[in-house]
Amino acid sequence: MKITRMLIGLSVLCTGAAMAADPATIDWTRIKATSVPLFYPGQSSYEWLRSAAHKGASGKVENGQSCVSCHDEKDAEKDLGNELVKGGRLEPMRVKGKNGFVELGVQAAYDARNLYLRYQWKTNNPQAGTEHQYLRFGGKEWKVWGFPKLDKVVQEGKQPGIYEDRISVMIDDGKVRGFAQQGCWLTCHDGSRDMPRMASPEDAAANPLLAAIKKSDLRKYLPETRTDPSNWKTGKSLEEIAKLKADGKFVDLIQWRAHRSNAVAMADDGYVLEYRLADAGKDMFGGNADAKTHEPKFMWDEKKMGFKSIRADSPARKANLFLVREQNAVPFDPNAGWKEGDLIPDYIISREDAKGSAADNNAIASWKDGVWTVVLTRPLGLRNADDKPLQAGGLYNVGFAVHDDNITTRGHHVSFVKTLGLGAKADIEAVKLP
Ligand code: HEC
Repeated sequence: MKITRMLIGLSVLCTGAAMAADPATIDWTRIKATSVPLFYPGQSSYEWLRSAAHKGASGKVENGQSCVSCHDEKDAEKDLGNELVKGGRLEPMRVKGKNGFVELGVQAAYDARNLYLRYQWKTNNPQAGTEHQYLRFGGKEWKVWGFPKLDKVVQEGKQPGIYEDRISVMIDDGKVRGFAQQGCWLTCHDGSRDMPRMASPEDAAANPLLAAIKKSDLRKYLPETRTDPSNWKTGKSLEEIAKLKADGKFVDLIQWRAHRSNAVAMADDGYVLEYRLADAGKDMFGGNADAKTHEPKFMWDEKKMGFKSIRADSPARKANLFLVREQNAVPFDPNAGWKEGDLIPDYIISREDAKGSAADNNAIASWKDGVWTVVLTRPLGLRNADDKPLQAGGLYNVGFAVHDDNITTRGHHVSFVKTLGLGAKADIEAVKLP
């Protein structure tokens, strides 16, 4: 045993490859947890923060002053979240039972290969939110079943609230102007989904930038990609945006998704520049509905699962139930005697199919006694055009967000910006592993 270990050690030395830690066996009890307060932000957009409604603060925010230079009182985040979640000027679609505040524990470690971020938070629901939307057979057609809780159809009781839990981090390496002061709020704009004056598909189609990048809605963007940051319609040219990207003026956005990435022990990899974009390559998940027929592309393998589909009252819904291409899926059979109410997941997940820069991040996770524990593994020194190359000695500005309780878009809890140091002084200091 000893000899094999020595041999492995030697071969590693010889090839010059560095050893990576196994995230499951890192002794996290020896690593300090930083408590990061997250609050419900409602519709506090880039534009609202610069408007007269943000009393006495609009000019200072416009001039780049940091949020916490004013919001610095004890429990500032808790007070903001508990107020905003009640509904009112910044929350027109109040969600019943929603919490205003989440305490996120963050621990960090690194070795020569990777950064490891360990997150812990107590979910609003007494179960893990690993379920995501389904395709439901209505007798003739298959249609999406289950929507996020900010959607009207859920608020009116016409659809169940179903959406995966998530923990996300935005990372800036100091190249994005204003991120160190105002964090995620640089990316959140009026016109985006569930925000004031939400762009319709027609608005998007009429906009040269969104049309050029083939998007039919507006999502996060950075101010520098617009000639007027407060007007998403004023997009710069693709050439100018390519230059910003080459200069590293984008933020990395890594989302661990309790359904669509957790099923294959990964986290997704994206970035925000002119839109919220996935990195090059292929994500670990894709839509399971055929674009033309709307029928599912895959169903569960009955030989392995005991069923091809489930129903709203199936006990299987309570388990972590995923449709994974290389594990439990077979091509959909349209002639399998489908009955009204049959449900098949709306997403097909695959680790084998995930490719390129979009497939950089791994994660392990467990939900126990009401608490998610997620360990994200992010390689250091990535050289992809859409990644921030993290490295030992590096200092980063980070913003965190948690989605739970079957919700998406702004229905999350977010942090003011924090710093993360890999061997550098910071709010969250990553410990070097032996
Ligand atoms: C110059 C000081 C100052 C700065 C900088 C500032 N704020 Fe404020 N903010 C305030 C004050 C004062 C209020 C309360 C105003 C009111 O109630 O109308 C407020 C209110 C808010 C509210 C609304 C709370 C509610 O209950 O309606 C939000 C959300 C908010 N700020 C977020 C931010 C964020 C995010 C930033 C950074 C991008 C920021 N603020 C920067 C001073 C500031």
